[in-house]
Amino acid sequence: MTAVRRKERFMDILQRTLDELEDLRARIKETSGFLRDAGVTDPEIGIVLGTGLNDYADKIEDTVIIPYNEIPNMYAGATDSHRGQLVYGTRHGKKVLVMAGRFHFYENNSMDTAVFPTRVMIELGIKRLIITNASGSINPEHEAGHLMLISDHISLPGFNPLIGRNLDEYGTRFPDMTYVYDRELRSKLKKKAADAGIELYEGVYIMTSGPSFETPAEIRAFAVLGADAVGMSSVPEAIVGRHAGLEIIGISALANKAAGITGNALTNDEVTEMGKLMRDDFIKVVDMAVEL
Ligand code: HPA
Repeated sequence: MTAVRRKERFMDILQRTLDELEDLRARIKETSGFLRDAGVTDPEIGIVLGTGLNDYADKIEDTVIIPYNEIPNMYAGATDSHRGQLVYGTRHGKKVLVMAGRFHFYENNSMDTAVFPTRVMIELGIKRLIITNASGSINPEHEAGHLMLISDHISLPGFNPLIGRNLDEYGTRFPDMTYVYDRELRSKLKKKAADAGIELYEGVYIMTSGPSFETPAEIRAFAVLGADAVGMSSVPEAIVGRHAGLEIIGISALANKAAGITGNALTNDEVTEMGKLMRDDFIKVVDMAVEL
């Protein structure tokens, strides 16, 4: 390749990253504009509801409900155990925007689509992001059927959602990840839940790409790495939220003991069934996180 051709190729790549950034900006603006026109005016808190945990959406009052498939650029919520709706309304006097169903990285190998709804919520002005998920418990002291506050995370997929040109209007190129999950809110939430008789564990969430569950050997390795629970989501949203300086609360519903711990094979039905059993406590704790 000649020096001139090499230079041309380099310029092409630069131009492509710029085009991608402008395309992303345009999509965020289009979707947030659509939602504002539909009545989603000034949300303060964004909530992402995980697998089998969509019922919190019923707590929201004075709602505007919009199915994802009516929203431009939103491809979220293809899994059966998700409702696939955006629910906007009020709760405890606050304006809340709930995603009943998320888009997972494993659905099409795209971090961009996984975090797009979070980016739209940021553009719409949320200050707090409550991220929820179902996970497998790795820590031997954490029983399935309980809730765990996420204190920190480990990201295994290796694809950071901030790769590409930086959206400078939301945050810096190299955002801090020391304090992703707000410590003050975590301790307040723990106390509030304890007063209501709900024990909240606290621990490190490790994200795999999924969609296969982990092997027992992987779970043993994750325990050595310092992980307390494993799941297939949430970390991309948390990174994008932290980039934009949001207060983040992560709530994980420990649906099962992780692979190899009990010897039982894992099924998605088991995960959704346990989600139903934890429903009441989960709804109470998310509600407390809104109220804080
Ligand atoms: N592994 C990964 N994701 C999960 C699990 C699990 O054991 N349970 C619920 N989501």
